[in-house]
Amino acid sequence: MHDIIRQLDEKRAAARLGGGQKRIDAQHAKGKLTARERIELLLDPDSFEEWDMFKEHRCTDFGMEKQTVPGDGVVTGYGTINGRLVFLFSQDFTVFGGALSEAHAEKICKVMDHAMKAGAPVIGLNDSGGARIQEGVASLGGYADVFQRNVLASGVVPQISMIMGPCAGGAVYSPAMTDFIFMVKDSSYMFVTGPEVVKTVTHEEVTAEELGGAVTHNTKSGVADLAFENDVEALMMLRRLVSFLPSNNREKPPVVPTEDPSERIEMSLDTLVPDNPNKPYDIKELIVKTVDEGDFFELQPEYAKNIVIGFGRMAGQTVGIVANQPLVLAGCLDIKSSIKGARFVRFCDAFNIPVVTFVDVPGFMPGTSQEYGGIIKHGAKLLYAYAECTVPKVTVITRKAYGGAYDVMSSKHLRGDVNFAWPSAEIAVMGPKGAVEIIFREEKSDPAKIAARTEEYKAKFANPFVAGARGFIDDVILPHETRKRICRSLAMLKEKKLENPWRKHGNIPL
Ligand code: HXC
Repeated sequence: MHDIIRQLDEKRAAARLGGGQKRIDAQHAKGKLTARERIELLLDPDSFEEWDMFKEHRCTDFGMEKQTVPGDGVVTGYGTINGRLVFLFSQDFTVFGGALSEAHAEKICKVMDHAMKAGAPVIGLNDSGGARIQEGVASLGGYADVFQRNVLASGVVPQISMIMGPCAGGAVYSPAMTDFIFMVKDSSYMFVTGPEVVKTVTHEEVTAEELGGAVTHNTKSGVADLAFENDVEALMMLRRLVSFLPSNNREKPPVVPTEDPSERIEMSLDTLVPDNPNKPYDIKELIVKTVDEGDFFELQPEYAKNIVIGFGRMAGQTVGIVANQPLVLAGCLDIKSSIKGARFVRFCDAFNIPVVTFVDVPGFMPGTSQEYGGIIKHGAKLLYAYAECTVPKVTVITRKAYGGAYDVMSSKHLRGDVNFAWPSAEIAVMGPKGAVEIIFREEKSDPAKIAARTEEYKAKFANPFVAGARGFIDDVILPHETRKRICRSLAMLKEKKLENPWRKHGNIPL
């Protein structure tokens, strides 16, 4: 018995030491924490239950039988975040560069399978040189086993990927199929092929950071959702993200009690929209002044800034917020913003999170680059996402709601439950100038006539009452009462039930 206990202690110590002190020091020297240090920061103290600490690879090629480390380069198990169950894996770069072997993949699959049974999120802390080269196809099979589980878990339990080191080759596709990707600046990167291959194939010279660093994926590609300065900040923000989410698709998100009165009025909002309809203003001011305690968890803040997405709470209940941003491209919808908005709306819908939409949109972005890029197909994604969405939907039109974009942005016609407009709302097929130039084309050479026609058009359509008269707007509300009216609407919708017709799955224009 004593022998076994001694062996157990030795094995545990060996597993905890991973690839050895030298490699741990090298990891620290890069500004990175180890796999276990990360878990300690992420989870509630003393909540981690580790599995498969003694699992080893089975490779016998290239002298691998002499190189085994208990745990095989990934730490797996479950624990709690703010008392709520999560499953996780944390790749250990000190063991074969965190490379994925067959056994390593089996460990990941085990936590994913349990997460599905228990109905709890899966969190992946990725720090890996990719497929374990010595194992060849066995490790490719391991990846595919993980991919398959990612897909089956999609929309069932939240899946969150943290990229905290290299993530290259096909290995990027597991994170890509999860719901959120966070990256750490200067120490993480994701790409399908690295700089060397890029140089050979396309003759481009690019660094790993430029090709797939945190800044690249948070500003250019939109692959990632947030970028952080270091491991600690990233892990703290991951805890915060989890606090907004339900554990699975059959639960509602957790309610966090708040001191912020749901009937709070915010007088400063009455002057948020400038008198000049062409002058921008910051929609985030409205969001922050509306949600509980000004606490808004924005996602993708540096990508497609003409649309703002993120989580907040109203009367303690998580809501997803989607808002056009007049400060950027006048808030118009283009390819990137449509995709960004659509994916977020679909996440909210899958996980019972009501969607609050703030609308100030002059339309879809015109131009050849948009048309050639497929704005028709990509804009349709947002339309599709809102139209299939069955969670409570509350919409507030603050100013412009023109054309197809009016329809798309959670309009009454797409089963918007409660649709409000501020007095400054203008709901029309297009802006007054464009409309007049088309309807009264023959008067184009007479500026006085055009000006008079424009005034006439404005008087008729640059207000919320035409839409109100048809019931497309439920009420015209004063900006200062926005929070109160949304909170009441959400309370009314709390037990909303709406189902789409049975089908295997829809065919969203991908
Ligand atoms: C086995 C690996 C490894 C791998 C790294 N190591 N990657 N061992 N398989 N894929 C080992 C190294 O040999 C080294 O061992 C230790 O991990 C640390 O690696 P270093 O190179 O010293 O670290 P660093 O300089 O930080 O560079 C990290 C790296 C580099 C950029 C990840 O190691 C690298 O380019 N690795 C190969 C990446 C790769 O081509 N992977 C396969 C991609 S294809 P020692 O003993 O010296 O500490 C793929 C297909 C998946 O993943 C397909 C899924 C569908």
